[in-house]
Amino acid sequence: MENKILTIAIIGMGARGGYAYGTYLVDNPNKFKIVAICDPDEYRLNKWGDYMSVPKEKRFLSEDEFFKEKRADVLFVTTLDRLHVRMANKGLDLGYNLLVEKPISDSKEELKSLSEHAKKAQKTVMVCHVLRYTVWIKKCKEIIDSGAIGQLVSIDHTENVVYWHEAHSFVRGNWHNREETAPMILAKCCHDLDLLQYFAHSRCKYISSMGDLRYFKKENKPEGSADRCTNCKYMDTCTYSAKRIYVDGWHRCNEVQDFPFNLITDVFPVTEEALWESIKTGRYGKCVFACDNDVVDNQTTIMTFENGITATLKMEAFVRDGGRDIRFFGTDGELELREGLNTITLKKFTGETKVWKINELTNDLHGHGGGDHEMLKQLYNVMALGDKNVETSVDDSIESHYMALAAEESRLHNGQLIEMSKFRK
Ligand SMILES: NC(=O)c1ccc[n+]([C@@H]2O[C@H](COP(=O)([O-])OP(=O)(O)OC[C@H]3O[C@@H](n4cnc5c(N)ncnc54)[C@H](O)[C@@H]3O)[C@@H](O)[C@H]2O)c1
Repeated sequence: MENKILTIAIIGMGARGGYAYGTYLVDNPNKFKIVAICDPDEYRLNKWGDYMSVPKEKRFLSEDEFFKEKRADVLFVTTLDRLHVRMANKGLDLGYNLLVEKPISDSKEELKSLSEHAKKAQKTVMVCHVLRYTVWIKKCKEIIDSGAIGQLVSIDHTENVVYWHEAHSFVRGNWHNREETAPMILAKCCHDLDLLQYFAHSRCKYISSMGDLRYFKKENKPEGSADRCTNCKYMDTCTYSAKRIYVDGWHRCNEVQDFPFNLITDVFPVTEEALWESIKTGRYGKCVFACDNDVVDNQTTIMTFENGITATLKMEAFVRDGGRDIRFFGTDGELELREGLNTITLKKFTGETKVWKINELTNDLHGHGGGDHEMLKQLYNVMALGDKNVETSVDDSIESHYMALAAEESRLHNGQLIEMSKFRK
């Protein structure tokens, strides 16, 4: 039997819509065909339009033109955070099934509006909580649910953001300023909060959070430093120098065509010249102590779930190596995920310790540890083959957004305890 080809329309041709998902769709022509794209940035629209072989008349600079009719089976909404719900709701009204990037929105009203729209339209909405689809999260879930550590009592979760990633996204980049975008606990950690509720099999009952912007402030600007790294006498020595992060970093990473290098330039494939040009003229070359950033660089959140399980979540900028570290404490043993060290360790209180190497569980760790691609495989199963198992539904996702927004409200009130049943209303 011939494969069904799922037709895809994408709005937002940046790092996610273009590179992370678009390239996978192009690489799997027996399952997907990209038939229409939209982005007001003409260069990006045509760069990706050419790469994806989208006819010129199906490349839209205008959102209004794009939404004049339904153009595909599925719409990918991969614009920046505050545009998602407006576009998703328009898509639902036209009868699309949807893939929506996270965070869905930082407004409770918008979250509710998407949930209601999806129910009314009776369409499938998948949210890009890509980590749920990784082999390492699936393995941990399988071990916990098998009862191997007994009854789960608590979870200790650290999201190692990494010093350069903090500077890239939350000081210089898209998520640097609270007026313009979602708070960092939502932008960066709605995945983590989603995982905590997923592992706990329960909704959050109480949450409290503390944290601040400690370091990336004007008062920490080194004596005699310039506002742009390429003019600065510390260009070769500052930890956060754009030249060290993007130019030296690119060479150190074997000149990959990947995040964060492909995000600071539209030149494709990335070249050293393009990286220099970007840091000489663009936002990613600004001194980290001279940006108009105000989001946190450290935040600690504690929570309890309705079934009694407790958890902590630390979001840390000041670490060298990335990945999640998650420890699960059960009545019969411990389970430890060290993503950066490539291990999952099961320590039963009686019996042998067992270690799995993450890279031996899969041969695709590309893009969020393989999660981006696994999610698209699942999307195909759901939207082309009728599989009912939507791992990352809009309502599950919204619950993680409520946790993040409540954590932020708590942080702004010195850690005040928030009761989730009241917050959700
Ligand atoms: N799932 C994940 O793990 C993950 C990881 C990174 C980013 N994200 C999310 O993905 C989304 C996109 O992030 P990105 O890094 O690709 O951003 P980006 O800035 O690279 O891309 C956004 C694109 O949207 C375009 N755009 C702006 N207004 C538009 C409009 N009216 N119509 C059509 N296009 C418009 C911009 O021109 C840009 O090309 C964000 O919400 C982000 O939080 C999710």
